[in-house]
Amino acid sequence: MQTVKTRQQALATVRRWRQEGDSIAFVPTMGNLHEGHLTLVDYAKQHADRVVVSVFINPMQFGESEDLDAYPRSMNQDSAKLAEKSVDLLFAPAVDEIYPSQVSNATWVEVPELSSILCGEFRPVHFVGVTTIVAKLFNIVQPDIAVFGQKDYQQLFLIRKMTSDLDFPVKILGVETVREPDGLAMSSRNSYLNDEQRKLAPILYETLMDIETMLKAGDRDILELEESAQKKLENAELGVDYVSIRRVIDLQPATDQDRELVVLAAIRLGKVRLIDNITVNI
Ligand code: PAJ
Repeated sequence: MQTVKTRQQALATVRRWRQEGDSIAFVPTMGNLHEGHLTLVDYAKQHADRVVVSVFINPMQFGESEDLDAYPRSMNQDSAKLAEKSVDLLFAPAVDEIYPSQVSNATWVEVPELSSILCGEFRPVHFVGVTTIVAKLFNIVQPDIAVFGQKDYQQLFLIRKMTSDLDFPVKILGVETVREPDGLAMSSRNSYLNDEQRKLAPILYETLMDIETMLKAGDRDILELEESAQKKLENAELGVDYVSIRRVIDLQPATDQDRELVVLAAIRLGKVRLIDNITVNI
């Protein structure tokens, strides 16, 4: 596996592969890699000749009070895991390679409205940071396909829209959420949980599955389903940012007529914020 830190090196490497006729799959990450990330890498390998992974903790997508400084960094372990998967190129730039001047003055890419709902309501700058860095990385890596996790459902939705709206010639592929044996969605942030919080955390997925069961049993009172799920989580002493039943097609609030749904939630255990979602077809 080749590891590069500059845009120029990354661009030159993928350009060479492209001239040789190889197709390129790209998996952007913020590192601290777990089985969820590695599943995306496996998927990428199945879909292209060359796989590029980026590890970049993107300051633009963290709010001022968020965990940018504390975000787990483990470059040596990450690099070993990717080498073991025979990734072709690891792109691991420093912040000033990607943002040569101040992050706050940089040009940004925003998907309006959809960036402000659900997680965007609680993390106002987050999705602008995500779509901006993904657009920049697409320009540097110029992949044929890019692979993202459905665990970050709203992120995947926004990236699909941004890619289509800005005519990036990149096919976006989504991969199902990889979970711990007890159902907790794998996340770099799970390592922040203390023992007690870790034991409690699977209640998030359980609550989503309860909603699925009730929807499939014919319950169509969307607001009541959301409220009782929220109460269940609050009774377990969790902070609830939202539990929301949405339409898959446009992420707008579901009505009792909709059949293709996604149930999304964000909770807080102390300072740790966890998100999860499941799609439900009825
Ligand atoms: P990060 O949280 O490191 O996640 C990188 C990719 O891994 C994302 O596409 C995410 O959805 C996926 N992923 C994380 N946990 C997963 C799980 N349990 N199962 C399946 N896929 C999972 O998401 C980001 O980084 C950043 O916002 C990024 C897109 C890299 C832009 O900075």
